[in-house]
Amino acid sequence: MSDNAPRLALVTGANRGIGRETARLLAEAGVRVLLAGRDREAVTTAARELRRDGLEADPLVLDVTDPASVRAAADEVDRVHGRLDVLVNNAGIRVEEYGRAPSEQPAARWRETFDTNLFGVVEVTRAFLPLLRRSPAARIVNVSSLLGSLTTHSDPDSYASTPMFKSLPAYSAAKSAVNSWTVHLAYELRGTPIKVNAVHPGYTRTGLNDGAGDLDVSDGAGSSVLMALLGDDGPTGTYTHRGVAVPW
Ligand SMILES: NC(=O)c1ccc[n+]([C@@H]2O[C@H](COP(=O)([O-])OP(=O)(O)OC[C@H]3O[C@@H](n4cnc5c(N)ncnc54)[C@H](OP(=O)(O)O)[C@@H]3O)[C@@H](O)[C@H]2O)c1
Repeated sequence: MSDNAPRLALVTGANRGIGRETARLLAEAGVRVLLAGRDREAVTTAARELRRDGLEADPLVLDVTDPASVRAAADEVDRVHGRLDVLVNNAGIRVEEYGRAPSEQPAARWRETFDTNLFGVVEVTRAFLPLLRRSPAARIVNVSSLLGSLTTHSDPDSYASTPMFKSLPAYSAAKSAVNSWTVHLAYELRGTPIKVNAVHPGYTRTGLNDGAGDLDVSDGAGSSVLMALLGDDGPTGTYTHRGVAVPW
């Protein structure tokens, strides 16, 4: 980072799962954290837990699918802080039923998934971009998934080639679109101090997968934290897991 001012991070979906752990790890690294979520009580409780441990954390009500909520949150951060240094687009849902054939997932599930996992990311980023532009070294982290990797999905021997992972076509397509958005935004912001990167957290035990997964949240948050704390010499426009490139 190019100045010594305390940094301010906003993590969406920070009341539980990977987001809450990302907020904790960033706060432990000395970053002031805004824990954003759609449920006021849940984000207030999550922020209070961090504060109890002596960390700098505040709740922020933000439903990524509600433009009025996104606008109000951006206005509040502008009024109180005047800038933002790190945006972690972490909020996400998995509403498709495991075990269904891809063609059998209802259109309503596709729309719900895209509203949160793609349009939510784009809208939140657009709303906070003016504040990120005021930071000397802003970082945007888009929490994608290995399921967004078309290379992985099209490899019959890959981790994703199981009936379970192939039953989430909308989730996977939305994450592929997040990867594409990441590349487009990185292109737009080339030549600025803002770095934009997508990450795969790893298959992590959370509510999203009913507690399945190989990793606990402290490992699952690692990839986001790494990209949130990138130095000025770090990359932009990448898709990584723990700093290692994931094939698009
Ligand atoms: N777990 C994995 O194995 C895995 C693997 C790859 C990628 N990911 C990605 O990692 C991210 C975090 O997932 P997780 O596993 O930690 O899931 P999680 O435990 O289910 O947490 C999801 C978070 O997103 C929030 N959220 C959902 N819709 C929202 C909305 N409209 N506005 C604001 N917040 C909203 C949830 O809030 P509520 O409590 O209000 O529902 C919750 O805080 C997601 O983007 C997911 O796709 C996870």
